[in-house]
Amino acid sequence: MAVVDQAWSPSSWRGREARHQPEWPDDARVEEVKGKLRTRPPLVFAGEARQVQAALGDVAAGRAFLLQAGDCAESFHDYERLTDTGAAYAAVAIRERLKILLQMAAVLTYGAALPVLKVGRIAGQFVKPRSSPTETTPDGDIPVFRGHMIHDDAPTAAARVADPGRMLEGYNLSAATLNLVRAFTKGGFADLTQVHAWNQDFVASSPQGQRYEQLASEIESALAFMAACGIDLAATPQLHQVDVWTSHEGLLLDYEEALTRRDSLTGDWYDCSAHVLWIGDRTREPDGAHVEFFSGVHNPIGVKIGPTASPDEVVELCARLNPDRIPGRLTLITRLGADRAAELLPPLLRAVRESKHPVVWTCDPMHANVFVTAGRKTRHFDAIMAELEAFFGACRAERVWPGGVHLEYTGEDVTECLGGSEHVSEDQLDRRYETLCDPRLNARQSLDLAFRLAELMRR
Ligand code: PEP
Ligand code: CO
Repeated sequence: MAVVDQAWSPSSWRGREARHQPEWPDDARVEEVKGKLRTRPPLVFAGEARQVQAALGDVAAGRAFLLQAGDCAESFHDYERLTDTGAAYAAVAIRERLKILLQMAAVLTYGAALPVLKVGRIAGQFVKPRSSPTETTPDGDIPVFRGHMIHDDAPTAAARVADPGRMLEGYNLSAATLNLVRAFTKGGFADLTQVHAWNQDFVASSPQGQRYEQLASEIESALAFMAACGIDLAATPQLHQVDVWTSHEGLLLDYEEALTRRDSLTGDWYDCSAHVLWIGDRTREPDGAHVEFFSGVHNPIGVKIGPTASPDEVVELCARLNPDRIPGRLTLITRLGADRAAELLPPLLRAVRESKHPVVWTCDPMHANVFVTAGRKTRHFDAIMAELEAFFGACRAERVWPGGVHLEYTGEDVTECLGGSEHVSEDQLDRRYETLCDPRLNARQSLDLAFRLAELMRR
């Protein structure tokens, strides 16, 4: 397709090929919803996006580590149910997810003695790219599930009709989620004196839970030592609050466009649906709609790099998305597979290093390690660790900073990924398989991974 050269605007992506967009049945309704979204307040402030970009600049320079993690697909259903004890399910689910994120960050910060930048896949991760446009059900082929911001997941053709009104619901639920994340992280829950309280009961009894207890006690001793030395801990805000920033795949361009606003301080455009957005592996063509859209917004941007990306293409993406070479603007998220990462990474790392583009290199060890067994999509913990090891090894050999990890996990005791120190086996997958899309690490597997990652970072 010939690309017409034109000035960037929030809608200039419309002149390019946009893959993985829903087939809205009613364009007038889409415009009506977008009009409403434009009247809604932004979810994040441009100044926050600049703060995250500066922190990512520290990661690019090898002074910090990025922990980006969360759900594969957030679910509207979480906001429509109660727990067994009558609490709002979403509130508990968000709290438990946050606990694991804080635990993993504590393990990495303490273990590697480095600042850890915490970015959730949260408060807006409601849209999914899919490999196939349809899925087969007992009632025949129906449109594949693309996320709750587009349609319902029930396996019927009627449920899979795209409904633009869901973009408004997605906005509302993102706002509610972000509000609770801000409340927890600023209101005392993330206080380092609570480091023991983040260990959930069902985790505490496991070997990695006990290892965490020990680490938490060491952190407490360190705090007591500092207090005894006369340091006023109460007056040190870093001990009492943390920043957890939001991110999601910026896939649904109608939604992202409507949330894109001009910052009143700088006059620059920001996509105010999240602090950080990433472009998926299926939508990263340099002349496609997604790259066009994200080339013009000033948030920090990620791009997934799968096995088909050539070194030239990756350098071209750097030039398209970060022509001014601002450190922290661009994060390259490699997802190459445990068996191919060691072979595919070195030429990519070298090409970008030689182009002198400042990027954050981070490893998503999840998305290229999926396989199907007994009708369930799963990943093995060992393959996830193997890709991480290959990533650290290749980065070290190429003198490139291994800047971070990108994970899919949940705070619950699910059985979706195989292995880990509790040895989830294939016949246990059915016990609690709850994901809407990809298999996630459960709470124990996540903590287990964090300890092993801290060792990789120290090595
Ligand atoms: C994802 O992060 O959920 C995803 C679909 O990733 P990728 O674009 O790497 O396949
Ligand atoms: Co996923």
